[in-house]
Amino acid sequence: MKPLKQVSDLIPYVPGKPVEELERELGITGSIKIASNENPLGPSGLAVEAALKAINEINRYPNGDCFYLKRKLADKLGVNESNLIIGNGSNEVIEIIARTYLSDNDEAIYGEHAFIVYPIVTQAVGAKHVVSPMPDLVHNLDDFASRITEKTKIIFLANPNNPTGTIFKRNEFDNFLRRVPDEIIVIVDEAYFEYVDDLEYTDSLQYQQNRNNIVTVRTFSKIYGLAGLRVGYGVGSEDLISYVNRVREPFNVNSIAQAAAEAALDDTEHIENTKSVNRAGLDYLIEHFNKMGVKYTPSFTNFILINLENDPMPLYNKLLKEGVIVRPLGGYGLKSHLRVSIGLESENKRFISALKKVLNK
Ligand SMILES: Cc1ncc(COP(=O)(O)O)c(C=O)c1O
Repeated sequence: MKPLKQVSDLIPYVPGKPVEELERELGITGSIKIASNENPLGPSGLAVEAALKAINEINRYPNGDCFYLKRKLADKLGVNESNLIIGNGSNEVIEIIARTYLSDNDEAIYGEHAFIVYPIVTQAVGAKHVVSPMPDLVHNLDDFASRITEKTKIIFLANPNNPTGTIFKRNEFDNFLRRVPDEIIVIVDEAYFEYVDDLEYTDSLQYQQNRNNIVTVRTFSKIYGLAGLRVGYGVGSEDLISYVNRVREPFNVNSIAQAAAEAALDDTEHIENTKSVNRAGLDYLIEHFNKMGVKYTPSFTNFILINLENDPMPLYNKLLKEGVIVRPLGGYGLKSHLRVSIGLESENKRFISALKKVLNK
């Protein structure tokens, strides 16, 4: 039986290699994975405690509306519950918005080296891909605006972007929005929002009072350390959110995930620790990249892109043999780069010593 044409043309998403798989293949132990931009400190203790408590009630369906999580999140963000959709990861939120608004007559614009879920959801609904080039590995919002046509329905922006780790600044976003008609939905994916420390960084939530067409998407998978539980959220106008909530499945976020996410919001100490471990790790990697002459793209996130100016796969495979998993980016059109997530101090050291060894530095 043939699937829809757009589905047979879909290229499957390739996640980072699991540690167990590498160890099984090579017969080694003690390897590290710095490939999926996870929180190396683990989840917050408060979240674990709440998850363990929630497990006793898994005979019940979860709260279908994520009532308590929404209430706490709304309070924290200064929005109403009616402005929120909670998803099974922010991926699901992005996908539901696409399914709510995008059809095969429409166009969606995204960056050439932007997060891979944007092309996937665009393709899955059969819409037309409009790609904004990223020769400098940053989103060029002027170029995005110049690609708008009467068929444009959704613009996907990642800020910071994965896998480049780059951001766009407030004045660029202001100029861009002046050129975007109200009927076009601008999804601003801020999965790494909490890591950014830059005065010119845009918090897209701040724009929502004056614009009905912006949806801010964030996640509990990154700084909150809950990637395995799958919780993310979108914030938008009441009208837009009411439509996307109609497409959402009734019990899309499980009860353990809801309880853990709610508790994680209280653990500001864990967030601050994570940020400082990340900052120190990023500084450490940069110092050694500079010493070794390894090219990299300055990062605002919990990962960094290195450019080997050559096919990176031999180096990637040698690192695997050293028990270090990083991420190749062929699927993102980055043919000479590897992405490295910032790990614990011990993991960063292990990576740098493996890199020195395989580069003969
Ligand atoms: C830019 C960006 N958006 C969204 C996600 C999806 O996160 P999740 O579905 O785990 O919330 C990721 C994960 O890597 C990401 O890098």
